[in-house]
Amino acid sequence: MVVRRVGRRPAVPTDEQIRELHERFAPTPEAFDLVYTHCRIVCAVAEQLLDGRRSAYDVDLVRAGSLLHDIGVYRLYDTHGRLDHRNYVRHGLLGHDLLRELGFPEALCRFCSRHTGVGLTREDVLRQRLPLPAADYVAETGEEQLVMYADKFHSKTTPPKFVTAAAYTADVRRFGEDKADRFTAMVAHYGEPDLTRLADQHQHPPAADGVSPLGAGSPRPPGPD
Ligand SMILES: [Fe+2]
Repeated sequence: MVVRRVGRRPAVPTDEQIRELHERFAPTPEAFDLVYTHCRIVCAVAEQLLDGRRSAYDVDLVRAGSLLHDIGVYRLYDTHGRLDHRNYVRHGLLGHDLLRELGFPEALCRFCSRHTGVGLTREDVLRQRLPLPAADYVAETGEEQLVMYADKFHSKTTPPKFVTAAAYTADVRRFGEDKADRFTAMVAHYGEPDLTRLADQHQHPPAADGVSPLGAGSPRPPGPD
């Protein structure tokens, strides 16, 4: 794959190259539609959140990271096109490994493994007995944090839907008050995106405040999405 390299920044694939990757790894048209549409929505949310602060971010990296962050979900489908919900929390690490195998730079691979919930710590992995190697999977760069945050506003549930900040806060509280506090701090920092136009465009219903999204950013995860 030919990728653009600008100065010292990581090589960033084009939107078209990323779409081709989704088409290549999606096991079914339905999986492609679910995952790629979600990634495009997360990208649109991230770009909205970038308004007014673009100079502080590598905008192309945010875009590529948004479009690639869930590519590991495809590795959780079996040969019958069924998703392994029980191991859903592994999708980030699977995506990281997939991109690494393709030769992508670490800065891009990390968008996959660092977007789950509001960050998975080694303690979370051990305490919740998650099917992951015990390690920290936490967004560190500004770009990683922005993509992780944008991901929380859309869920690949059946049917897919948009998620308000209040609904996500209520949901993530299941995993600890510290998780809710972390998300609340991100809302204060980034603001809440206007999801109205995106909901109209994609015909996905917005979640009402107070209604648990149950897996914002993922289809029914066993742990934080
Ligand atoms: Fe996602």
